[in-house]
Amino acid sequence: MRTQVGIIGAGPAGLLLGRMLQRMGIDAVVLEARSRDYVEGRIRAGLLEQGSVDTLTEEGVAGRLHREGLAHDGLELRFEGENHRIELTALTQKRVTIYGQQEVVKDLIAQRITDGLPLLFDVSDTAVHDIAGKPRITFTHGGVAQELHCDIIAGCDGFHGICRPAIPAEKMAIFDRIYPFAWLGILAEARPASHELIYARHEDGFALATMRSETLTRMYVQCAPDEDLAAWSDRRIWDALHARLARAGLPSQVNEGPIIQKGVTAMRSFVAEPMRYGRLFLAGDAAHIVPPTGAKGMNLAIADVRILARALDDFFHGRGERLMDDYSRICLDRIWKVQRFSWWMTQMLHRYDADDGFEQRVQTAELRYVCGSEAARTTLAENYVGLPYAV
Ligand code: APR
Ligand code: PHB
Repeated sequence: MRTQVGIIGAGPAGLLLGRMLQRMGIDAVVLEARSRDYVEGRIRAGLLEQGSVDTLTEEGVAGRLHREGLAHDGLELRFEGENHRIELTALTQKRVTIYGQQEVVKDLIAQRITDGLPLLFDVSDTAVHDIAGKPRITFTHGGVAQELHCDIIAGCDGFHGICRPAIPAEKMAIFDRIYPFAWLGILAEARPASHELIYARHEDGFALATMRSETLTRMYVQCAPDEDLAAWSDRRIWDALHARLARAGLPSQVNEGPIIQKGVTAMRSFVAEPMRYGRLFLAGDAAHIVPPTGAKGMNLAIADVRILARALDDFFHGRGERLMDDYSRICLDRIWKVQRFSWWMTQMLHRYDADDGFEQRVQTAELRYVCGSEAARTTLAENYVGLPYAV
């Protein structure tokens, strides 16, 4: 088999890249290790920056997103029993949209299948070869060993994929932070606590109330990184949410309902530099991870792919390799700003066990400063709704 771009991974990065290349008249094959059901069912974050919505709209894959997504003009910060609203749209003229990552994935898969373009699920033994010369991907599909020759390989295979490790270690620098906590997330059949997201800092730990629809709520509580889910009965989860999201003197807004999914999300900041080696380009989680506070993972993957698609458009249409050579630098400029923001939100809102009270007071002061200063609110808001794209 031969194609122009071999895309490894059918997450938001790989699928969106496939769509953008299609519209540029560039051939691609998408290879995915998991089944279609698995990738469509995998629950991840669900908040799209304005630019991500605009990108999906330009690519013609946002029909359902516009019908079912929930547009938000603000968010709530809760601490010391107080509630403060950050007016995202008034401060930035932009909004964010709640729409599950797996819904974006479903829409992109449906489009690719409708268009009859190659997308192979359940591939195994994926390996990349000769990435600095004439690249090839080998894999097994339906019990048959196959070889795909390509001009370019796009490593969109997530944090645990095979593309990043295929780059010689001495050609890459890794920057990493592991946080001493994690999030226990639930999906419950209950009305959301508020019509906007609530980020809470409480002495027992962080909590976040978000949603997927008017009847489906998604909530997170800070827990230990090696948390045993069995230790968290439904009752314990609801009690933690009522306590951490409480407003002084007011009844709890948390609505209980059947919990239909529970899971633990690790918290990590990770960047690999550069994001290219020879003819292999990394995009999305394959190159970087952010902690989920701020929900930047999918948005960052979309921002990478916008640049990569333009670089490949130039390359395949005789306009040279300048943007390909600049790919990593342009992406990393945004990635580090987003790393900073995700790290900042994380450290402002979580409980650190070793804290002797100093950190907590600084956090409270920071939250009070953010809520009390229009300049600081604008800083939070412009990062939250998404920084402007470089190209
Ligand atoms: N061969 C083929 N596919 C692979 C391989 C492999 N060896 N290894 C991993 N994959 C697939 C995974 O099964 C997954 O479907 O690559 C895909 C990578 O998708 P994501 O993990 O969703 O990563 P990405 O597309 O970069 O999207 C980033 O995902 O994890 C979230 O928070 C993150 O929201 C962010 C988004
Ligand atoms: C989500 O809806 O899952 C979500 C929203 C905002 C975050 C993280 C997760 O910061």
